[in-house]
Amino acid sequence: EQINKGKYEHYMQKEIHEQPESLRTTMRGRLIRGGSCKAKSVLLGGIKDHLKTIRRSRRILFIGCGTSYNAALAARPILEELSGIPVTMEIASDLVDRQGPIYREDTAVFVSQSGETADTLQALEYALENGALCVGITNTVGSAIARNTHCGVHINAGAEIGVASTKAYTSQIAVMAMLALAIADDTISNQGRREAIIEGLYELPSRVKEVLQLDQEMEELAQLLIHEQSLLVFGRGYNYATALEGALKVKEVSLMHSEGMLAGEMKHGPLALVDENLPIVVIATRDACFSKQQSVIQQLHARKGRLIVLCSKGDAAAVSLGGSCRVIEVPQVSDCLQPVINIIPLQLLAYHLTVLRGFNVDQPRNLAKSVTTQ
Ligand code: G6P
Repeated sequence: EQINKGKYEHYMQKEIHEQPESLRTTMRGRLIRGGSCKAKSVLLGGIKDHLKTIRRSRRILFIGCGTSYNAALAARPILEELSGIPVTMEIASDLVDRQGPIYREDTAVFVSQSGETADTLQALEYALENGALCVGITNTVGSAIARNTHCGVHINAGAEIGVASTKAYTSQIAVMAMLALAIADDTISNQGRREAIIEGLYELPSRVKEVLQLDQEMEELAQLLIHEQSLLVFGRGYNYATALEGALKVKEVSLMHSEGMLAGEMKHGPLALVDENLPIVVIATRDACFSKQQSVIQQLHARKGRLIVLCSKGDAAAVSLGGSCRVIEVPQVSDCLQPVINIIPLQLLAYHLTVLRGFNVDQPRNLAKSVTTQ
C-alpha cells in the first residue's frame, strides 16, 4: 500500500503530501509528555546507552551527502545550542578526500536515507578506524550504515520512492532535533527551551498539514517561473539549510539552475547577479535572524531584485516593501523546527515546475536514488 501512488500522479507528489503522517511515525513513542515526577523528554532507544559517551565528546561531526547533509545542517544550530559541544559538518566524499582528522573523543553521526551511500560508508569506515563513536541515522533498517555503526536512530519515514528526497528530509530533521534534546536531557538550565521544542514537535504534523495548503499557490508561482534560466535562494541561521535544500530540489527535478546561498555572504559575490530579471527567494520567517533578513530584502530591493519572500503568517506587510515582492506566508513553529515547514513550499514549487516543464519527476535525468558506487 505504501508503495503505490494512490490518488497521486507521482511518488514525489505523494511523498510531499504524506509528510504529516511520516513525521508522526518518526516521532511515535519517542516523545514523553511527562507524568507527575518526570518532565517532558525524548526517548531514543537506539542511542540511550551511549548518551553519556556522546555528552563527553569533544566534537560532534555530522557526515552525509546531498539531502541528508542538508538535513544535518538544519539540525546543527539546535544541537550546538543545547549540547554546548562544537558541531562540524562534513560532506562524506570531502572528508575522505582530505583524510580530515578524526579522534577517539569525537562522535561521528552518519546521516543517510538509504544507509547504503558509498561515500558515506567509506567515511564511516574511516571514522571507525580512527576510533570515533559512530552513530547512524538512516531510513533503512538493516542497511550497511545501520549495521556498521555503534548505535543509531531509524527515521521511520516509510519507503521513499521518488529520487528527490522529501519526506525523509523532514523526518531526518525531526530525528536530529530529538537527538539534540536527548543529549541535553541532563541539563536543568535549558529545560524550558527543551520542553517548548517538544511541544513544537507534537504540533508539527498539523502545521505541516497547514503549509501543504499552499499547493495551488506554488503551482501558480511555478507557472510564472516556468521559462526562467535560474533561481537563487537566500537563507541564514536555521534556514541556511532550507536555501540549500530548496535549490537542490529545484535543480535536481525541474532541471532549472538553482543555488542556495547563505544570506550573510550576499555582499561577497552573489549581489553582482541581482537585476530585475533573476528571481530570488528570500527566507525570512521569524527567528533571531529576522531583522537581518529584512535588511537583506531591502538591499536586494534597492538593486531591483525580483523577490519572492517566504515569511511567517501575518508578516506579509513587514517583508513586502509596499507590495513590491511576492510573499509566501507559512505557519510559524519553534525556530529550530521551522526548516521542516519552510522546505515544503519549495518542494511543491520544484514538483510543479518539473511537471509544467515536462520532465520526469520521479526519475530525474542522470540521477539515482541511492549512489552505491564512487
Ligand atoms: C542521492 C539521492 C539524494 C540523496 C543522496 C544521499 O544523490 O538522489 O536524494 O540525498 O543520494 O543519499 P542517502 O541515502 O545517503 O541519504
